[in-house]
Amino acid sequence: MVKLNNKTEVPVLGLGLRGMKDPDICEQVILAAFEAGYRRLDTSMYFNNDVYIGNALGSSGLKRDSIYISTKLTPFSYRHDAKKKIETTIRKMKCGYVDSLLLGHFAGDIESGWKALEWACEQGLAKSIGVSNFYLIKHMEEIARFGNIKPQTDQIECHPYMQHPKLSGYLAEEDIRLEAWFPLAGAHPALMENPLLMELSRSYHRSTAQIILRWHIQSGHIIFPGTMNPGHMKSNLHCLDFELSQEDMAKIKDLDTSRSLSRYSAPLKKFCHRHFV
Ligand SMILES: NC(=O)c1ccc[n+]([C@@H]2O[C@H](COP(=O)([O-])OP(=O)(O)OC[C@H]3O[C@@H](n4cnc5c(N)ncnc54)[C@H](OP(=O)(O)O)[C@@H]3O)[C@@H](O)[C@H]2O)c1
Repeated sequence: MVKLNNKTEVPVLGLGLRGMKDPDICEQVILAAFEAGYRRLDTSMYFNNDVYIGNALGSSGLKRDSIYISTKLTPFSYRHDAKKKIETTIRKMKCGYVDSLLLGHFAGDIESGWKALEWACEQGLAKSIGVSNFYLIKHMEEIARFGNIKPQTDQIECHPYMQHPKLSGYLAEEDIRLEAWFPLAGAHPALMENPLLMELSRSYHRSTAQIILRWHIQSGHIIFPGTMNPGHMKSNLHCLDFELSQEDMAKIKDLDTSRSLSRYSAPLKKFCHRHFV
């Protein structure tokens, strides 16, 4: 667990639910994750799996306050139906509140969107609020200009090839946690077969994925790798039980190319630009 700037606590490792739209698979994957020990789920109003999350929560028998759930509002809802969307999502999840609620993108009427998130906090519908895909310091400063609450997190694409040295320094100074989406770069071969990471995998007797996830943890990132594979789900948890030396952390730092490996990032940026700028 790590503490956010509003003193709430969040598990550093969870499960990402992007792409899990099949009701049976989604529910089974979540139940398997709970069984393995996961207690944090990350989703988005865009992923369309709220109902299945609610079903899995119900059949797990776990107490609501033992599970941490995060979701995101899409820019389409910032201006008009944000409050309704938040209430509907929570109703569908049958979870009473979400632990973390984020603005999904730096696009559109972020002021209205942020005010809706603050409203959700006041109503007890969200315990923490933050942003996602805010890649520039000036974007973060814009929230500070009109917001009454400081964001607790910024969720961005982040992995050893895309480390955001400037932004991550700013976030650390401001006590805003970096949440890394795409922490394994979608298991992209360019990352998974990187010679340094493979060498570290051999020397620590850990998988390349575990080396990458461990680098995130020691960098202070919160992560929720996506997987439907029970073996990967279990082995990803074992990034918590070993440590990379400072020397090896520095070597991984040198891999940064500030280059996205996500095939969604560029089209998403274009889409947001077309619709909201
Ligand atoms: N805020 C945003 O805009 C945004 C955007 C995208 C994603 N996200 C969030 O971030 C989460 C994670 O991102 P992501 O799922 O796109 O990418 P990711 O976690 O970097 O990669 C997921 C891929 O890695 C594979 N994988 C997982 N563990 C592995 C292991 N130990 N060894 C080898 N392969 C492994 C998975 O395949 P298997 O199923 O075969 O394991 C899957 O194909 C998402 O689920 C979502 O919650 C947020």
